[in-house]
Parts: sequence; C-alpha cells; structure tokens
Amino acid sequence: MDKVFYVTTPIYYVNDVPHIGHAYTTVIGDFLARFHRLDGYDTHLLTGTDEHGEKVWQAAAAAGEETQTFVDQISRRFRAAWEVLDIGYDDFLRTTEERHKKVVAEVLRRLHANGDIYHDEYEGIYCVGCERFLTDKELVEGKCPDHQLEPERRKEGNYFFRMEKYRTWLRDYILAHPGFILPSGYRNEVLSLLGEPIGDLSISRPKGRVPWGIELPWDGDHVAYVWIDALLNYISAIEFGSGEKYGRYWTVAQHLIGKDILKPHAVFWPTMLKAAGIPLYKRLNVGGFLVGADGRKMSKSLGNVVDPFELARKYGADAVRYYLLKDTVYGQDGAVGEASLVERYNADLANDLGNLLARVRALLIRHLGGVLSAPRILGGDQEIVDAGTALAGTARALVQDMKIYASLEEVMQFVRLLNRYFNDEETWRLARDPVQKERLGTVLYNVVEGLRIVSVLLEPAMPRKAAEIRSSLGLGNYTMEESGRWGLSPPGTRIPQEAPILFPKIDLNGGAGAGDAPEETEDQEPKEPEEMSQQISLEEFSRTELRIAEVMEAEKVPGTDKLLKLTLSLGQERRTVVSGIAQSYEPGELVGRKVVLVANLKPARLRGIVSEGMVLAALGEGDRLALVGPDQDIQAGAVVR
Ligand code: ME8
Ligand code: MG
Repeated sequence: MDKVFYVTTPIYYVNDVPHIGHAYTTVIGDFLARFHRLDGYDTHLLTGTDEHGEKVWQAAAAAGEETQTFVDQISRRFRAAWEVLDIGYDDFLRTTEERHKKVVAEVLRRLHANGDIYHDEYEGIYCVGCERFLTDKELVEGKCPDHQLEPERRKEGNYFFRMEKYRTWLRDYILAHPGFILPSGYRNEVLSLLGEPIGDLSISRPKGRVPWGIELPWDGDHVAYVWIDALLNYISAIEFGSGEKYGRYWTVAQHLIGKDILKPHAVFWPTMLKAAGIPLYKRLNVGGFLVGADGRKMSKSLGNVVDPFELARKYGADAVRYYLLKDTVYGQDGAVGEASLVERYNADLANDLGNLLARVRALLIRHLGGVLSAPRILGGDQEIVDAGTALAGTARALVQDMKIYASLEEVMQFVRLLNRYFNDEETWRLARDPVQKERLGTVLYNVVEGLRIVSVLLEPAMPRKAAEIRSSLGLGNYTMEESGRWGLSPPGTRIPQEAPILFPKIDLNGGAGAGDAPEETEDQEPKEPEEMSQQISLEEFSRTELRIAEVMEAEKVPGTDKLLKLTLSLGQERRTVVSGIAQSYEPGELVGRKVVLVANLKPARLRGIVSEGMVLAALGEGDRLALVGPDQDIQAGAVVR
C-alpha cells in the first residue's frame, strides 16, 4: 500500500484569538505530520480558520468592525501563532475563500438533488457558543455545560438534512469499524447517542437573521449553517471534485479534534458524506481538554491561563511543544502550567539529554581531536546497539496508537541508558589512559550514534533542537528508517569545536514567586560561574590565602557519592579537607598530587568531618571537575599569589 498520510486540525473560529487549546491540537497535528514525513509518507497537514456563522458575525459587530476585515485580522493571527510554534502546515484553509465556497455549494446541491433536504419550521434551543441546537438532555442546570450559557429558544423556517435516516447505517458502520473513532471511550459515547433518534439537522439560516455565510444554491435568502460549511473544509482544501489531491489523500484522512466537537464530527459529518455519496474519512482522533495547573478550567479570573506563545518566546517553541506532547495523555484531560513545563524541561532535556551531549562532545574534542572513530563493537556494547535499533519500531507503533507521550518516554529511557553506558564504561578513566584510546573511540562513537537516533525520533516534537543536536555532532539529516539502523554516523566525521549549549538549565528562582529557594545542604553543587562574577578589589582578593598542598591520603565519605575526604600536607602542617570531587576522581589517583588549597577558610563541618579549607577545581562541561595544580614541581606549603 502507498504510504500516504493526511491529517487535519479543526479550523478555528475567528471570534477568539489563538490560545493553548488551539495550540495543543495543532502541535499534535504537526507532530504526526513530521513523524510520517520522516517515515517516508506522502504527508499533508491541513489547518485553517472557520470564519462564518453567528458567533463570528456577532464578534465582528461587537468589535465594531466590518466582518471581512475582522476575520482577515484574526485569521492572520492564527497564521502568526503557528509560525511561533513552528507548525509546518501544508495548507491553511479559510472558509471565506472561493475554493471552499465552491465545494460547499456543490455538496449542498448533491444533497438537495438526492431528496435529502426539506424545508420546515423548527423550534428548539440554540447555543451560539456551540453553534448548534441542543437537546434538553445536554443541558446542565438549564445551561450549556461547555459555554455556561442559557441557550436561546428559537423558531424559524429552515432547510433540513434527513440525518435521522442515516442513523442506523452509521451505528452499524461504527460497530463494524472499531478504529473509526479513538479513543474508544468517545466511540462508546457516539454509539450510545446513536442508540436513540437523533432527528434531522437544520442546515440553513435565514439571511434576515444571519447574513454572514455561504448562500444556498437553490435559495438565496438562506445561508448554509456554519457546521455544514466548516466540516466541508476537509475536502474543499484538497480540491474535492477536481481530482488528483483529493484522490490521493481523502480516504486516508485522519481528523484531530477536541472532545467538545465530537457530535458534529462523529454524527453530522459521516451522515452528510454518506448522503452525498462521498467515502468516509479513515479515523477520528478525539483529544481531551487542557486545564490549569490547579485542575480547573483556565480562566483569567482564576489566573491559571497558560499562554503557549509567551512560553515559546521565553523557553523556545521546542520546549513548549515537547512539554505539551510529553506531559499529556491524548484523549484525556491534562493539567498544564509553567512550573511543570520547567520541571519537565530540566529533567529530560537539560539533565538527561543536554548533559550527555555536552559530555560526549567534550571528550571527543579533548581526547580524540574532535573526530569520530571507526568503532570496534564489543559484547558489552550490544545492549546499547539493540536498544537503539529497536527504538524507531517501538515509537512508530506507539504513535500509530496516538500514544505520543509514551513514544517520547521510550526515547528518553534510551537517553538514560546511554548516560549509564557512558558512566559505566568509565569514559573519564579511558580518557586518561593512552592505551585505551581505541576503546574510548568506540564508546564515544556508540554514544554519538545513540544520540543520532534519538535526534531523529525527537525531531517531530522538536524540529529545531533535533537538527541542532546533529549539527553539534557534525551530522546531517536522517530518515526514520535510518534511525532504525546502527552505524550510520560516518567514522571520520569532524565535530564542530564550538556549539551552543542546547538545553541550558532553566532557573525559576527569582521568577515571579515560582519555585523554592535553593536548599542549603552540605552537598551543594558548585555555584555557577555567573553567580560569582561580582567584582572585588585587589585588597579583598589578597585576603584569600592560597597554598600548594600535597594529597597524602584520600577516601570516599560514606553515605554520599560526591565527597572525598583528603588529608593534605602543607609542609609542616596537615589538614583535613572534604571536597566535592568524588564524581570526577577516584581516591587512588589523587595521592601524591599537588593541589591549590584555600588555606584560611573558616572550618566547616561536612558529614560530621571538620573540613579545614577548600581545594580549587575548574568546572568542566557536564559538571566534570578538574583539579587546579602547579605546572612544575614545587614544595608543599608554597604560597600562591
Ligand atoms: O469548534 N484544551 O472551533 P474552536 C484542548 N470552528 N483543546 C482545546 C481547548 C482546551 N481547553 N479549547 C479548545 C470550533 N481546544 C469549530 C471547529 S472544525 C470543522 C470546526 C481545541 O475555535 C480543540 O481541538 O472553538 C477544540 O476542538 C477546538 O480547539 C475548538 O476550536
Ligand atoms: Mg469552541
């Protein structure tokens, strides 16, 4: 079968500016499109704006603007929003475009010609927020639960589509096609809706009341009901009726919607298609709603509104995209907020992925001239090779099932495995031993190869960062298929000397009350250099007494993996110093080494040991520490000036 993928987002009403809900659904669409494109599919992503209907018309009136001017403006804001989030849509459809109106007229003509349209007087309750008549059962305490509005009672002469006539056919179709509506909870909801009469669907509005819409081909006093108009965007955009694109894409179409518009997509749309003699779409994917971090519906008054465009400016589009995809389960409601975005980013991207990348780059540059070696794979490397080559297949299957978060978690688990491999192979030790150069080359090659695979699988979520990961390793682009094979990073590749830190850690402290103050603990991490870069006078500096000391003994401090207890000689004097270098040095390799001691520091108690001073170390990439020492032999106790 041909590899063709057609995915659509809802077209968004232009009565409102783009918000996180729109962004969420659209990011998922873009992820799926990029994933399939990388996987060799002929891919088409459609989004756009829904510009007719009462709600939009009223919003323009309320803004005191000419309707067309108003919709032009807001539609432009949607396109700008998608640029901020790096949405690579193939088509953006506006329902006010001629190409769309033409198709709406054509399909209405078909329904009319088939005898599926009749005129009648109708009385019912209408929610302008939903843009549809509601049934009494849908009300909660007399109000539309989605919009908290009391629906209006309406009686008017309208044209109707014989929807009820297709009810049992649709029910049977859904029963026979379990994958038509996903997740299955929504499928069941639709089946139960179809278990009882659904009535016919009013498909027109008298122009006298709503002048803003597409005229019915047989009665110029009426415009098409906005949902009929809107749903047809999915085929008008691919040139229904005129062949090629439509023929290629339509029968594989997958719609992405939020749960609020399930009924129009699962009931109105398939019955309409059937009546017009048009094949049905392939799959309806129904997403849950995003709520505030407090679990409540986002609202300005609650102060829990998350603005994805603001967050993208602050942290980058890739961070926002990754967060939305990784921290929500498609189909379920999800709570989102800035603090959890930062937490996710720091854990997955800054720590697990970013540090590994920095560490492997540093060792390659420092010890192998920045060039990838030809690897000699040993038995112990097999776990990495196997896990890496299996990853694309696993991710593919999960994405197929709309388990995007799980596919990203698989990728991150592999990153954690790579970190363990990097540490377990004791790269720092290999790097110091000239005899082990070849082994070091193999281990680093494998980590680079793992990161290459990871970068391809992360690309649909983070298109920019994924490319940057590869270019910081001297690599180009690869397909999904090539991410399922080991050994495609060419040996001899020269990695760039300079590369930006791809995922700098985000510090929320100091931000508007977010996060906690850092805890004062014994094992505190070394301070970041910028926190120290306050200027001091020469006099202040000269108060620091620096001396050369020789390490006489070194041992691990029990109960922590960071600290070593050093016994130092200053010539006449002995000092005990507790130093946070245990992750960079083994105790054995320190004995006999000369270091620089801050000798007049107030003693401090660390893990019950009195530490009398501090040894100096430089902070390297990936939190590696390098002890500072004299570059010639000099006696212990010498003063450092
Ligand atoms: O309904 N969480 O447009 P619309 C997640 N024009 N997704 C959300 C959300 C939230 N809190 N709020 C909105 C329309 N969405 C019609 C569609 S299609 C032929 C016509 C998303 O601007 C979700 O995808 O009200 C929902 O279905 C869509 O925005 C509704 O956008
Ligand atoms: Mg809506």
